[in-house]
Amino acid sequence: MTEEKRSSSLSILFDSIRWEEKALYEAAKKRGIKINNIDCKSLFIDLNGRDPSPYTNKVIIQRCVGYFKSIHSTAALEGLGAHVINSLRTATLCGNKLFAHMELQKAGVKTPKAVSAFSQESAIAAISSLGYPAVIKPTIGSWGRLIALLRDEDASKAVIEDREHMFPLYQVYYFEELVSRPPRDIRAIVIGDRVVAAIYRYSGPGEWKTNMALGGHAETCPLTNELEDTCLKATRVMDGQVVGVDLMESEEHGLIVHEINNTTEFKNTVRVTGVDIPGLIVDFSYKLGK
Ligand SMILES: Nc1ncnc2c1ncn2[C@@H]1O[C@H](COP(=O)(O)OP(=O)(O)O)[C@@H](O)[C@H]1O
Ligand SMILES: [Mg+2]
Repeated sequence: MTEEKRSSSLSILFDSIRWEEKALYEAAKKRGIKINNIDCKSLFIDLNGRDPSPYTNKVIIQRCVGYFKSIHSTAALEGLGAHVINSLRTATLCGNKLFAHMELQKAGVKTPKAVSAFSQESAIAAISSLGYPAVIKPTIGSWGRLIALLRDEDASKAVIEDREHMFPLYQVYYFEELVSRPPRDIRAIVIGDRVVAAIYRYSGPGEWKTNMALGGHAETCPLTNELEDTCLKATRVMDGQVVGVDLMESEEHGLIVHEINNTTEFKNTVRVTGVDIPGLIVDFSYKLGK
């Protein structure tokens, strides 16, 4: 990249301001890096390419919570020459659990056994082929929402009937085996080619899902070679730059990856481990513009 084309600033694209967005802003300010906050709600983008466009070579940290806003704004900005973290490819693959499953299993990264189906009847047959108990997940979603445990065929029929009355996305059925594991999972933060921190997330009372949004609590997780290797391989498969890798400790298969978050939250990981994740993200992102 030539001297003139270098981006001397960073941008954060957001649709709501959480702890993470504030922390990224503060980390950039602390380093004397010019940081533009772009509110997705007030943004409009001329999609007709100009060379250069106002976004050519700009480094933009994508932080929109809303899946559709995030993926479409990434497509527009990346298409106009911006370097969006994470890329459209990463966001597309990570944002959809079926797409992510296929990429991970093609690359030989261990992930829960899964089946997919596209009608009410075939969905029931699909779960039987997997065996009970099973887990139903929307292909696109987060914070554990609409993920349900299916203990038997009656429960499956009831849940699937409900899904048949929802938006068509929910009729793309995706089921996973219920993985036997301790009552916790692992969230590891990867920045570039480094796993910078990890936490165990324990499920809250009466809850089997370990999402912090569902009342879970967190503890530091040591970075073993196996954890680092698995996370880096999973991140590379997705071309991820800054991601949160979610893993389970399967009693049968050891560490398995069940999700890679392309707009990851990291507040609890910073609180528990003390690692300056926002600072590391800002350093990594700023270097990309250099
Ligand atoms: N196949 C599974 N077996 C056992 N527990 C699971 C399985 N899949 C997910 N979970 C639990 O549910 C939580 C949410 O699932 P996840 O796939 O990460 O979806 P979300 O995007 O909503 O966070 C996980 O953190 C884990 O605790
Ligand atoms: Mg998750």
